[in-house]
Amino acid sequence: MTVRSRTIAVIFLLSLAGTSLAQQLSTSFYSNSCPGVFDAVRSVIESAIAKEKRMGASILRLFFHDCFVQGCDASGFEVIDAVKSAVEKVCPGVVSCADILAIAARDSVVILGGPNWDVKVGRRDSTTASFSGANNNIPPPSSGFANLTSLFAAQGLSQKDMVALSGAHTIGLARCTNFRAHIYNDSDIDGSFASSRQSGCPRTSGSGDDNLAPLDLQTPTLFENSYYKNLVSKKGLLHSDQELFNSGPTDAQVQCYVNSRRTFFADFVTGIIKMGDINPLTGSNGQIRNNCRRVN
Ligand code: HEM
Ligand SMILES: *[C@@H]1O[C@H](CO)[C@@H](O)[C@H](O)[C@H]1NC(C)=O
Ligand SMILES: *[C@@H]1O[C@H](CO)[C@@H](O)[C@H](O)[C@H]1NC(C)=O
Repeated sequence: MTVRSRTIAVIFLLSLAGTSLAQQLSTSFYSNSCPGVFDAVRSVIESAIAKEKRMGASILRLFFHDCFVQGCDASGFEVIDAVKSAVEKVCPGVVSCADILAIAARDSVVILGGPNWDVKVGRRDSTTASFSGANNNIPPPSSGFANLTSLFAAQGLSQKDMVALSGAHTIGLARCTNFRAHIYNDSDIDGSFASSRQSGCPRTSGSGDDNLAPLDLQTPTLFENSYYKNLVSKKGLLHSDQELFNSGPTDAQVQCYVNSRRTFFADFVTGIIKMGDINPLTGSNGQIRNNCRRVN
């Protein structure tokens, strides 16, 4: 067994074990202990996005990474300090960083025009940092369809969830180093799109690696279905994006989301609630972190 497949096997067992615990997450978990938490998170996220639109995308991506590393327990946290201190003012020591991130991700989607949903809360924070998990569980943009599918399956997420959740790439930016191989070497890409991206991303690695391009070339700060329209016209920015529409089994689902933003939104909500349920720490496990960046 390779290191990666062993990790997948372990995480798979953990997420099976976690499904019964996941029942303990509930939308009313803070009804008595911190009824103000949702307003506190929303107002900080609103002003953060008003200042810098990309912040919404960064928070949503952080939530994805947090959930995939070892369950949604705030491992690998980097942002969110401002939200944490606002929440601490309302109810000190009560709300986990993992829940703050889950709420902040929902708020980011809503503020940028996407669907709303009730966030299940009651997670606790991990007592281990687990940065090493990140590389094994988070799919690289070079992943092919089968690898993407198996990394999502390892978290209990279906191929359908994978395609719907990837619609998060309707917002945000990516660095040249993550899409260089796709725009220079792949054939499943529109020619004029490839050349326009090449002009901002030099062929030779080491030069312009951090140059940015929008994941959705049309509306990178609006959460809607144009990500899927790009895929159908072979204008996915990442190799992994275009894999979802490349004469494979998920072409029909992508086409469906092109035709129906409403169906995309419904499936995205189903997927992100499932993602938030991955192996949470609950009850007396874990801790409520004082500082979201580190273990107490
Ligand atoms: C299907 C597998 C996925 C792969 C291979 C992938 C890969 C990537 C890569 C390479 C970037 C650009 C990072 C950079 O260059 O700095 C990115 C950005 C992003 N990803 Fe994904 N991702 C995947 C799924 C998801 C999911 C499920 C979500 C959330 C539900 C998500 C949300 C985002 C967002 C919002 C950004 C933009 C971040 C920003 O602008 O700061 N991704 N992703
Ligand atoms: C995909 O999986 C195969 C087999 O497990 C592995 O050899 C390959 O390196 C993986 N590719 C990527 C891009 O993850
Ligand atoms: C394209 O593929 C060739 C041959 O596999 C490789 O040597 C080269 O580094 C690749 N170029 C990019 C930009 O990924």
